[in-house]
Amino acid sequence: MLDELNRLRNESLEQLSHIWDEAALEEWRVKFLGRNGLLAAEMSKLGTLSKEEKPAAGKLANEVKASLESAYQAKIGAIKQRNLSESLESEPLDVTLPGRPVKRGRLHPATENLREIYRIWGDMGFQVFRSREVESDEMNFQMINIPPHHPARDNWSTFYIADTDQRVLLRTHTSPGQIRAMRELGQNGTQPLRVILPGMCYRYEQASSRYEIQFNQVEGLAVGRNITFADLKGTLTEFAHRMYGNRPVRFYGDHFPFTEPSAQMDVQCIICDGVGCPMCKYTGYLEILGSGMVHPHVLRNGGYDPNEWSGFAFGLGAERIAILKHGIEDIRYFWGNDLRFLEQF
Ligand code: PHE
Repeated sequence: MLDELNRLRNESLEQLSHIWDEAALEEWRVKFLGRNGLLAAEMSKLGTLSKEEKPAAGKLANEVKASLESAYQAKIGAIKQRNLSESLESEPLDVTLPGRPVKRGRLHPATENLREIYRIWGDMGFQVFRSREVESDEMNFQMINIPPHHPARDNWSTFYIADTDQRVLLRTHTSPGQIRAMRELGQNGTQPLRVILPGMCYRYEQASSRYEIQFNQVEGLAVGRNITFADLKGTLTEFAHRMYGNRPVRFYGDHFPFTEPSAQMDVQCIICDGVGCPMCKYTGYLEILGSGMVHPHVLRNGGYDPNEWSGFAFGLGAERIAILKHGIEDIRYFWGNDLRFLEQF
């Protein structure tokens, strides 16, 4: 039997050395190492041996089995390695080819524009106050001098979202945040404040190249003991200069229920430098924002005594500023999610 085992070992290893594909390897494994294979058959004869012969035969049988198994494992690795180098040679890799370009993400132009506005106001000492987008009719209108059924409501076509006693709506402007900022930061009308209130506003409008049903506004509010109209003009002029460069601005009378007096600020057209062009409708100026001195009723609703405190407020359409800066011809591009537009920024 010892001879038989040795012969089996030599023969199997000899055959294995010629095998280079997986199917043949599997055949080899079944033939020699399988449950009904030649080695198993040899080992089953161990029981028939005499006491003297058994130990040596058993030991050799185990050795043969171990050497066949390790040769089998080594062959698996060798076949894998050979397949790999063959495929590398037959399909050569050009490691000098340039990589595939990775698309970089970027900030939305409206976000970049808002951040520019925050930075300028931040440098001028205004902190950001976040007010809510879902508002009550009371805050959006009544607290800032626009009672129910007042014709001024026509200026803010409104999305009402619940018709309860306290009508709930999507804010049509950031001005209700004035009341919330005064109440939350003013400490019962004892502290001055300087805030900007940015965020999304909604209007029930027919969307067009100039109007969207949603847009960002940035409201500003300064309340103090000696704030005058001169502070309003000086501060807003400084903002315009930082945002658009040192070009002329002009103020003229306007009307808002929550400011008195009210003024609109224009900046000299950044396209034609005041000569006149389609962008400024040949006026030489672009409308930038609405503003005014905070109405005494509004101050009182915010907790301040209007005999001692005064303030100015303004509201600007943020996308409008970006439109002017970049010469964008349609406001709907902002929320249209068209990458051909977004990737230009
Ligand atoms: N809330 C006004 C609007 O939506 C803008 C504004 C804000 C005007 C603050 C004056 C003061 O048109």
